[in-house]
Amino acid sequence: MRRVTVAVDPPYDVVVGPGALSALGALAGDRRRVAIVTQETIADAHAEALPSELARPSPFGDDDDAEGLWFVLIADGEDAKSFETIGSVCRAFAEGGLLRGDLVVALGGGVVGDTAGFAAAVYHRGVDVVQAPTTLLAQVDAAIGGKTAVNLPEGKNLVGAFHQPVMVLADTALLTTLPERELRSGLGEVAKYALMPEGGAVRELLERQRDEILGRDPDALGALVAACAAIKADVVAADPEERTGRRAILNFGHTLAHAIETTSRHAVAHGEAVAIGLVFATELARALERVDGAQVERARSVVGGLGLPIAVPADGVDADALLEVMRRDKKAKGGTTFVLPGPNGLELVHDPPARAIAGALRAVGVPNSDQAD
Ligand SMILES: NC(=O)c1ccc[n+]([C@@H]2O[C@H](COP(=O)([O-])OP(=O)(O)OC[C@H]3O[C@@H](n4cnc5c(N)ncnc54)[C@H](O)[C@@H]3O)[C@@H](O)[C@H]2O)c1
Repeated sequence: MRRVTVAVDPPYDVVVGPGALSALGALAGDRRRVAIVTQETIADAHAEALPSELARPSPFGDDDDAEGLWFVLIADGEDAKSFETIGSVCRAFAEGGLLRGDLVVALGGGVVGDTAGFAAAVYHRGVDVVQAPTTLLAQVDAAIGGKTAVNLPEGKNLVGAFHQPVMVLADTALLTTLPERELRSGLGEVAKYALMPEGGAVRELLERQRDEILGRDPDALGALVAACAAIKADVVAADPEERTGRRAILNFGHTLAHAIETTSRHAVAHGEAVAIGLVFATELARALERVDGAQVERARSVVGGLGLPIAVPADGVDADALLEVMRRDKKAKGGTTFVLPGPNGLELVHDPPARAIAGALRAVGVPNSDQAD
């Protein structure tokens, strides 16, 4: 088992590897009640991976003071990240008699993690939460760092709180049941870490153990998740509540990625969009003479090596629509803002020249547009 410490106050560990969930028994310790927030498919596939020490009777019996363990199921998909879900999750906590010293476990991908994390942040003004991520994306990213949120009809993640978990248990054995598209979403984030200046260990693992990783070998995935988690942990520790802008570097590749996801109405999966966004950002950095051609080649080879796309699908992603969405990106202050590699590492770059953007878009297969040139 690998351990990565997130050095916030108080610090906590990310425990990574096949069987990491077994640590839940000791973590629950003598806490009276444990509520496991998850989704039906995950409970069906993985409830038996929960350690036997966690077993407690249902709290819905006659004895109000007895220990208790119960499952709180939420719906699948981005729509489940809503105030309605927070209301029903908090009511389920109350019905089961969850108190301040008890424990919430978020067993699932980023949707479960964000929702259960936010419910734990506000219920009784804060209950301990263990993040037990079950998607690759959540293991390398969403479960670490304490950002929790739900969506409004007006936009994604608009209401949330910082609520650091007491521990993150990234059990890589759970990733064997992950649908292919979800695995690719996580691989897009892995490619992001690999292409960060601090990503040497991730790149090395991708070179040495590519086949095992793509074959979902839990040990190889354990090494990979731990290497990615270490980078995220450092960034989070440097800027726990996103005050200095340091955490923004985690958006490397994401400005174009969000625009591709939006304009393709999510036909292009998140990880694929991030993959294209990483190549685009590196191309744009080259156009601005921040990096050389070798870095662009490296970006293409890391992304392509993971079986991810290096260009947009041929069937008509519209450059004007992409630019429009990128201008609305939350980091942008009126114009367009990108996280780009350069001699000082990843940095926010505001309003690069339209010609440079057009060239980088062409390099990832987006034809020219009136606005861009
Ligand atoms: N808080 C953060 O810092 C942060 C960072 C990145 C993303 N996010 C959020 O994460 C969300 C996306 O998370 P995601 O990509 O994990 O998607 P997700 O949570 O929707 O999970 C994807 C699908 O996989 C299923 N699934 C999960 N684990 C499984 C398993 N082991 N086996 C079989 N099926 C499984 C889920 O039920 C779901 O259908 C977004 O809402 C995003 O905003 C949050």
